[in-house]
Amino acid sequence: MKKSYYGEFGGQFVPETAMFALKDLEKAFHEIAFLKDFKKELKDLLKNYVGRKTPLYFARNLSKHFGHEIYLKREDLNHTGAHKINNALAQVLLAKKMGKKKVIAETGAGQHGLATATAAALLGLECEIYMGETDMQRQALNVYKIELLGARVVGIKNGLKTLKEATTAALQTWINEIEKSFYVIGSAVGPYPYPQIVAHFQSIIGKETKKQLKKLGKKADMIIACVGGGSNAVGIFYEFIEDKKVRLIGVEAGGLGVDTPYHAATLTKGRTGIIHGMKTKVLQDELGNILPVHSISAGLDYPGIGPIHAHLFESKRASYYAVSDDECIEALKFLCKKEGILSAIESAHALAILPKICKDLSKKSVIVVNLSGRGDKDIETIKAYKKGRIYG
Ligand SMILES: Cc1ncc(COP(=O)(O)O)c(C=O)c1O
Repeated sequence: MKKSYYGEFGGQFVPETAMFALKDLEKAFHEIAFLKDFKKELKDLLKNYVGRKTPLYFARNLSKHFGHEIYLKREDLNHTGAHKINNALAQVLLAKKMGKKKVIAETGAGQHGLATATAAALLGLECEIYMGETDMQRQALNVYKIELLGARVVGIKNGLKTLKEATTAALQTWINEIEKSFYVIGSAVGPYPYPQIVAHFQSIIGKETKKQLKKLGKKADMIIACVGGGSNAVGIFYEFIEDKKVRLIGVEAGGLGVDTPYHAATLTKGRTGIIHGMKTKVLQDELGNILPVHSISAGLDYPGIGPIHAHLFESKRASYYAVSDDECIEALKFLCKKEGILSAIESAHALAILPKICKDLSKKSVIVVNLSGRGDKDIETIKAYKKGRIYG
């Protein structure tokens, strides 16, 4: 198996011009990102700028309610409000060390766009963010913040005007200006080595979790995370993949239901195909056309998934479930009332699986839920939420 593959998934399905850039990127990643100086600079920024390490919070009220020990990995407490900053900051630092002058990124929920614009402002690089116009409407606060940071938001008008179209446009622009630009990919997706780079930079979530549990004298029985492209999930799973006693659970966007056309449950309903330069599971029709997707959460509204997850799914190392928009909003409100924490609607998908999973457990378990982001950006969507409404 070639090293750019995870099982049968991954690879590099891009035009010739981009192949050279991917080779350069892989070389730069191996030559720069493991240097003592790079690691020291990134560690310092993550600590003093981002605010790491994030707490592993014992959710006493949720634990009492579900009858298990439930911990929340508080990625919502990061600067800019989500796990996305771990990867964006690291990639922008890598871009700077490679001598690039400009960074490009796609964004759905706006969190990756915000994180990239933030890192670009800090490190002095020009920044352009591609975003579907539907997402620009539902994440207007993040659009405003990105512009305040000095980045340019490029609105994408075609298709469903969401994450898939934004990713296509960003990849296209990158290929056109490959010499001066660096594409800061926002999830564990895209052609190799992007999934590997993102998993590496996000694995800090799992590394911290493992240490924090050890300090408490605990071992995880189960780790749960929401899955869009899969970066927060792979970040928290990574350190636990070899430990077969730990159940790994990914939660996809079930939208209005996986038996309707309105969902983004790629592993639950997808088939093997090609999207955005990678071989993975894709929501597609019989002819291989990529299907429109729906989720209340802009960050999970994507018809593909990172190839590492496709492999974890196929090899049965991790299990993936889908929860509906409705279940997600219920879980979000429940967390607010029980623990006083407003999570992002993406993260609330991970919480929404707790009622189903917990009742099937035979013994008291230690469960970690990755709270990938905070919900400030989602206030308008939550306020406007009506059961059965289609966004995008
Ligand atoms: C808070 C939050 N969680 C999760 C996601 C989903 O992305 P991923 O699956 O890459 O973690 C997003 C995407 O924008 C997000 O903003």
